This record gives sequence, C-alpha cells and structure tokens, in this order.
Amino acid sequence: MNILVTGGAGYIGSHTCIALIEAGHSVVVIDNLRNSSKYSIESIKRITNQDISFCKIDVSDKSAVERIFEKNSFDGVIHLAGLKAVGDSVIKPLEYYENNLMSTLSILNACQKFNVNRFVFSSSATVYGENKSPFTETMVLMPTTNPYGETKVMCERILTDIAKTNQAFSVSILRYFNPIGAHESGLIGESPTGIPNNLMPYITQVAKGKHPFLNIFGNHYPTTDGTGERDYIHVMDLAEGHVAAMEQMTEGVHIYNLGTGRGTTVLELVKAFEQATGITIPFKISVQRQGDIASCYADVSKAQRQLQWSAKRDLIGMCRDAWRFEQNYQEV
Ligand code: WQD
Repeated sequence: MNILVTGGAGYIGSHTCIALIEAGHSVVVIDNLRNSSKYSIESIKRITNQDISFCKIDVSDKSAVERIFEKNSFDGVIHLAGLKAVGDSVIKPLEYYENNLMSTLSILNACQKFNVNRFVFSSSATVYGENKSPFTETMVLMPTTNPYGETKVMCERILTDIAKTNQAFSVSILRYFNPIGAHESGLIGESPTGIPNNLMPYITQVAKGKHPFLNIFGNHYPTTDGTGERDYIHVMDLAEGHVAAMEQMTEGVHIYNLGTGRGTTVLELVKAFEQATGITIPFKISVQRQGDIASCYADVSKAQRQLQWSAKRDLIGMCRDAWRFEQNYQEV
C-alpha cells in the first residue's frame, strides 16, 4: 500500500516509516520539521535503501495538504503530526488546541475529498487520566491533567463521529504507552531539543556526561519501590503496531493499547540501563512532578487478539538501543 505518514520525520514517525517499508509498503512523508530534522528522512533512506518522498509542510495548511493528495494516490494515512509535550501544553494551551485539532481536521478533510478510507491515529495513554492500571480500551475516559491529553480525547471523538456517518471510513486509534529505545542501526532515535522532559533521554544524557545525575521525581508512590511506574515499549515494537493496524484495518473505529502490559518503575529502568550498558547512573530523589500519576500500564490483550501484534523487545534491549543512538547522536 501507498501510505501518507504525517509527522514522519519525528521519533515515532521515522521508526514507523522504516517498519512500513520493511513490510513492503511505500511511504510519503509530510512534516513541518518543528520537532525533527531532515536528517531523519536521510537516515530512513539509508537504513531501508529505499527512496522516500518528503515534503516540508504544515499539516494544518489545508491547501498544501490537498496538493499532496492531488499528486499521490494514497491507500491510507498514519497521522502522527502534532505537539506532544504535556508540560508545554499546560503553558501554551491555545497553541496545542489549534495545532493538534487543525492538523487533524485538515487531514480528515483531504481524506474525505480524495476518498482515502484507512486512517491510523496516534493517541496516547494520557487519555485514561486518573483511571487505575491496567488500562483497558473500554474504560470510561476521565479528565486528563493537561491540554495535550484533551486534544487526543477530542480527536478520538472527531474520528468516531466521522466514521458513524461514513461507513467506508475505517479508523484505528492507537493509544501509546511510553515509547523508548531506537532502531538497532543507531541512526535514528529520540533526540529532544533542550533538556529532555522524558526519563529515557535524560538517563542517556547522564550516561553521556551531559548531566551529573538523574532527578527521580518522588519515591513515595504506592508502587514496589515508591518511584513512578510506566509501561515502556520499544519504539520499533510500537512502529510495527502501526503496520499491523493499517494492514488489519476493518470497517468502523477500533481502539488499541500499544504497550507491553508490564509496569516498570523509575528505579527498575535505571537498573536495567546500568545492566545493559555497564554505566552507573547517579541519581537524587526530588519532589514529585506536577501532573504525574503513580502507575500507568496497559492491558494489551485486544491488540494481541485482533491485530495478532504484541511487543517482542525487552527492557535491556530498549536500554541498549537507546544508548547506542545517544552515543552516535551529534546535536545539530
Ligand atoms: C516517566 C516516569 C516520571 C523524567 C510522557 C507523556 C505522555 C507520553 C509518554 C506522549 C515518571 C519519571 C521522568 C525525569 C523522573 N507522551 N521521571 N525523572 O510522563 O509517563 O509520559 O511520555 O504521548 O503523554 O506525558 O513519561 O518519561 O516524562 O516520565 O523521575 O527526569 O519517569 O515521574 O514516573 P510520562 P516521562
């Protein structure tokens, strides 16, 4: 199939393009390069030895998006483009609502106009809000703690309503847990600009000597060792979940958790990283981060059952691959 990947130069997007190409599909990437670089596109070509079409546009620009649909014949869209920093969204809610909603509406208008009826949407476990883990797709969503999470809830509702009026339009909503790691080549990975908000890139930067120690945000949570618990999934497993969702697409709207189904605490991840690399990660316990929840991990039985997909890579592999990318990565 010929697949349009919006945000395809980003962390999840670039890995998803590789998984699509390795599964025999062709991809067209559009991205505004706000949180990514053209280097990712070059790396995708190098890793897959395939040329891919890339166009630098803002996905919210309806006319630019329509020109892409006019020039190509798409079998499906994987829509990843969007702003995704939770803390940032609390500071700049209007920017998040405008960008994440307008980009989704722009793509959906083009899909309707050009009769593209397979749509995979990048959602997030954040939509579960203060529910209790393990999260299941049938759970009633509770208010999230941030505008980013609210944009994902709204986009899920928009997709559901459109599918109700257009029987031919099929949607897979993928709720990501915590993607970490990098492609085994070490050529692409998570390269946040500035000081990382997320745990794994901060750990790899401590290992590289960019920071003297890791701040562990709180150790009084009701978890095995008191530190926050998350469902970390290798980014290539997540990417392969997108391929499965596109290939197994059936009519209607389907929601899937993409995680491992296992919770890992901060201290357990630090220990796994030290085991995988032989590098000691100094840390200090600091205050809890506002908006954090104690425990977040998935019930993944639906994706296993309906997509015949499950995460294959383990924590040591995630740490080893994340470290390899950090060692190769030269900040541009
Ligand atoms: C993980 C754990 C922190 C940094 C975020 C987004 C979510 C999704 C995945 C988009 C928590 C602790 C972290 C640090 C720490 N992204 N931590 N020191 O917050 O679970 O989820 O990424 O969909 O929307 O919110 O990930 O990596 O920030 O935190 O102790 O320097 O690590 O408290 O327990 P999070 P994270």
